[in-house]
Amino acid sequence: MLFSTEPKTSLSELFDREVEIERFRSGLNERLVLVLGIRRVGKSSLVLSVLNSLGIDYVFIDVRKLYDNVSRKVPTERIYNELKSSLSRLSFWERIKGVINEIDVSLGPIRFRLGSSRIRDGIAKILEAVNSAGRRVVLVFDEAQYLRYSTTGLRPLLAYAYDYLRNITLVLTGSEVGLLHDFLGGLDDPSSELYGRYYFVIELKPFNRERSIEFLRRGGSGSWTLTWMIG
Ligand SMILES: Nc1ncnc2c1ncn2[C@@H]1O[C@H](COP(=O)(O)OP(=O)(O)OP(=O)(O)O)[C@@H](O)[C@H]1O
Ligand SMILES: [Mg+2]
Repeated sequence: MLFSTEPKTSLSELFDREVEIERFRSGLNERLVLVLGIRRVGKSSLVLSVLNSLGIDYVFIDVRKLYDNVSRKVPTERIYNELKSSLSRLSFWERIKGVINEIDVSLGPIRFRLGSSRIRDGIAKILEAVNSAGRRVVLVFDEAQYLRYSTTGLRPLLAYAYDYLRNITLVLTGSEVGLLHDFLGGLDDPSSELYGRYYFVIELKPFNRERSIEFLRRGGSGSWTLTWMIG
């Protein structure tokens, strides 16, 4: 169904985007891929549809969902929990679950009382365990600009994964301003942990008028859709 409000999860549901699909596929051979675009342009749909079509292992964390409106933060513990619970989808989960459970137990049940940096260490250990399974895994932080609200800086963790965890490919989605300038700004900043790392960019633009009309023709009708697709 072309006109659902949820992100698309398969290529058969995705309208157009052949060029971006190809670029994203080849970008997955790199260490760090950024999928940039304005809201509702189709970032999550592209990422999910391509990853599902390839049948590779991936973890998809929607960081916006973890944002706490009261504290205006993304608690590191939420990232930890989300990561841990999404690992059970991995094809080699049975092989790593013992190690993951040990890491979890070592942090203890009163984890919320621990300092954020202890939990961040827990995240690093989980990623190390995933990496050492010897299978390639794509780790997606959807709307990654929200990581700038995390209660502990996650840039050092991403830099660590980039440099040492060679079986993990990082994919970050977000708006160009939010992601590149606010969160990753460090890629061009010599004082940042991520300085100088190469990143592969896929930029999604809104469809032009012609493609938008074609989209409507194939999917049904609805003027609201035409509005955002033309952008
Ligand atoms: N190429 C496409 N073909 C069909 N539907 C699409 C396409 N791209 C986006 N959509 C639809 O548009 C809406 C927004 O898509 P999606 O959630 O993937 O965008 P996004 O850029 O991740 O948005 P957000 O900023 O809200 O996270 C969804 O309803 C999705 O199904
Ligand atoms: Mg999205």
